[in-house]
Amino acid sequence: MKILIAEDDATSRLLLTCVLQKQGHEVLETIDGIEAWEALQQPDAPRLVILDWMMAKMDGLEVLRRVRAQASERPPYIIMLTVRNETPHIIAGLEAGANDYLGKPFDSGELVARVAVGQRLIEMQDALARKVDELHQSRADLHVLAARLQAIREEERTLLARELHDSFGQHLTALQMDLMWMDGHLQSSKTPDLGPLSDRIVAMVPQIERLTEQTQTLCTALRPSVLFELGLVAAIEWQVEDVAKRSGLVATTSLPVEDVDLDEGLALPLFRIVQEALTNVIRHAKATSLDVRLQIADQALELIIQDNGRGFPADLLAGSKALGLLGMRERVITFGGTVDFLNALGTGATVRVRVPLPTANLTIHPIDHP
Ligand SMILES: Nc1ncnc2c1ncn2[C@@H]1O[C@H](COP(=O)(O)OP(=O)(O)OP(=O)(O)O)[C@@H](O)[C@H]1O
Ligand SMILES: [Mg+2]
Repeated sequence: MKILIAEDDATSRLLLTCVLQKQGHEVLETIDGIEAWEALQQPDAPRLVILDWMMAKMDGLEVLRRVRAQASERPPYIIMLTVRNETPHIIAGLEAGANDYLGKPFDSGELVARVAVGQRLIEMQDALARKVDELHQSRADLHVLAARLQAIREEERTLLARELHDSFGQHLTALQMDLMWMDGHLQSSKTPDLGPLSDRIVAMVPQIERLTEQTQTLCTALRPSVLFELGLVAAIEWQVEDVAKRSGLVATTSLPVEDVDLDEGLALPLFRIVQEALTNVIRHAKATSLDVRLQIADQALELIIQDNGRGFPADLLAGSKALGLLGMRERVITFGGTVDFLNALGTGATVRVRVPLPTANLTIHPIDHP
């Protein structure tokens, strides 16, 4: 490995270099503290340093202090060279951040052994750093994958909603019209005994109407057209009202009076978070009221869904793998957003979403109320 020697005594320097080169190391020699410090500032500086204590211009202890004062992900392993038996020196060196020391005059076997210890430690640090990098990378990959899967899911929902609306819905309408036409003909027909047939046809009409309604509900669930047509604020308002109506919960909202015209890529995930959080309130909270707030301040969006129920279970807040909650986090992570699940005393559960908003991605305009 590459080793830096900082030693002002030429004989010692030569000896150190010879022994280390014989071990197969690449040696970089410096003759005073300033040179050593400068060499350590280079991008591919050696990771193992043998640093003489007493040197001209800048002594070893000063070099050591400067190196340790620098924030570095991979700080060098430093062996101080000090005159033998000077315990106060050794203690001062260790306290300043030396990893090891070597008494002077040194024994070449001890030098090799101490360098080997340092080398092993550096190799372990490098292996660990590689693992951490891999972990960061695979985590980033997982976020990308989760975002892609969500996007695919939304694309499929949109396709399905279109198909349902255009094909299914239209055919149902045609069927309904046909039935009415048939009923009209039966009514005007002179043929006796057709009464029961006519009754059947009349009974089928409301069934088809129900089917049409269900198709519309399904379409809306798959693709919330209110979001795309009227924007996030109106869509949240509509969703909260719908939940309140269905569940009997007392719902309040505090939303901007102007709509926030977010990128559709962000508005949809935020809307899905609201839907998931509201479903959770109905399913788990045992609440009687809920409050949804959206505000934009300091170039950040904050969305809060709070209920007055029993709150999140404690073990869940300690870091659970609940998929619904994980999904909420994943939906905004690619926008640099965070989702917190909180239990404030006496207030039930709170889902708090925060997303930074560069002004370039945001325009605000008055809401077009339906
Ligand atoms: N508002 C809430 N109040 C109290 N507990 C909640 C609330 N929201 C979620 N929880 C708890 O958190 C757990 C995890 O929620 P999560 O949404 O991840 O899963 P889920 O709703 O049980 O299932 P799904 O995957 O269908 O959403 C719930 O099982 C429930 O115990
Ligand atoms: Mg859920």
